[in-house]
Amino acid sequence: MLRANQDYLKLPGSYLFSTVARKQREFQAAHPEKSVIRLSIGDVTQPIAPAIIDALHRAVDEMGSAEGFHGYAPDLGYEFLRNTIAEQDYKARGCEVSADEVFVSDGAKGDCGNIQEIFEKDCRVAVCDPVYPVYVDTNVMAGRTGTYDEATGTWSDVIYMPCLEENDFAPRLPKEKPDLIYLCFPNNPTGATITKAQLQKWVDYANENGAVIIYDAAYESYISEADVPHSIYECAGARTCAIEIRSFSKNAGFTGLRLGFTVVPKELTVDGVALHGLWARRHGTKYNGAPYIVQRAGEAVYSPDGKEQLKKQVAYYMRNAEYIRTNLAEAGYTVSGGVNAPYIWLRTPDNMTSWDFFDRMLEQAGVVGTPGSGFGPSGEHYFRLTAFGTFENTQEAIKRIKEM
Ligand code: MLT
Repeated sequence: MLRANQDYLKLPGSYLFSTVARKQREFQAAHPEKSVIRLSIGDVTQPIAPAIIDALHRAVDEMGSAEGFHGYAPDLGYEFLRNTIAEQDYKARGCEVSADEVFVSDGAKGDCGNIQEIFEKDCRVAVCDPVYPVYVDTNVMAGRTGTYDEATGTWSDVIYMPCLEENDFAPRLPKEKPDLIYLCFPNNPTGATITKAQLQKWVDYANENGAVIIYDAAYESYISEADVPHSIYECAGARTCAIEIRSFSKNAGFTGLRLGFTVVPKELTVDGVALHGLWARRHGTKYNGAPYIVQRAGEAVYSPDGKEQLKKQVAYYMRNAEYIRTNLAEAGYTVSGGVNAPYIWLRTPDNMTSWDFFDRMLEQAGVVGTPGSGFGPSGEHYFRLTAFGTFENTQEAIKRIKEM
């Protein structure tokens, strides 16, 4: 008898942000008179920058002419974008990454979720705890995580690396030996970062142990401190152990346009197999490329006007981050993050569970955040707020939280 994929059936509940959105909808339906402010999913609110809009218009017009029309994009992305990325995101920072090591995609979420496909099924995965749920859920779907323990909220075959207040929310090297290590810095959800020296230790560890690091750098444009690395390729030896995933969603407001990329260095091999070739094979087979107009928009992100406008956009969100952080700290909350990342991580008051605090925030303040426990067991008694709202909504949300 044909059965559904049994690994999918192991997934507990629904995707974290779908659950949060459903609860918000239900509350709103029951209380249509109440205004609800969403500081939950990290979705941007500022309009697309003018330089990018101009590039989109030009590309749309091109598509309407016989000479300018573009059909399927090249598998791995248009050269104009891959060259720009290699030049501006990497060479300009002293990192050795060539254009043909850049794989353009329709966003980092898909790449984060799909990258595990090029590794064998029984490899051991290590994740930070709390963690962006996509890393774990996609490994569950792939049948790699063993059994789920409801009491602890953990999977038997996943190595969890707790990120706690006492270690500044930075993971320690794991006691058990992983094959695949997911790292995200600046971190989602805690907003924490690590220094270049700390990241170098991970690179050395991976090289010594034959592990591969999946480095999610989706929030790199929010880095404000000098010793925080923007790319894992700033570390010596990263080309033989690390894949880096980047997004246009948060630095350029592309959550609705969809664009990202993954770097797989040619030297990166496991068991004598070059991962570059495998990822290229997967990309070519399963993917038809981000649209031409969106890739042209992505190119405009790196233009002088684009860069200037996006610097202001990032500063706008980081003003929200600072506003949330300082006001909640003044109000007696224990807060972290929000300095190199658009996320603020706060301890729930009176040791409330994350979901109880979620309900209280929604009911008493009309503010939606994300419960820390949704990101993993070490997120229990924590709560995440995003800085991606409008400044006015952020101010209003904080006022209501203070009055709660
Ligand atoms: C988040 O809120 O954690 C992210 O925005 C979700 C995502 O990027 O998929």
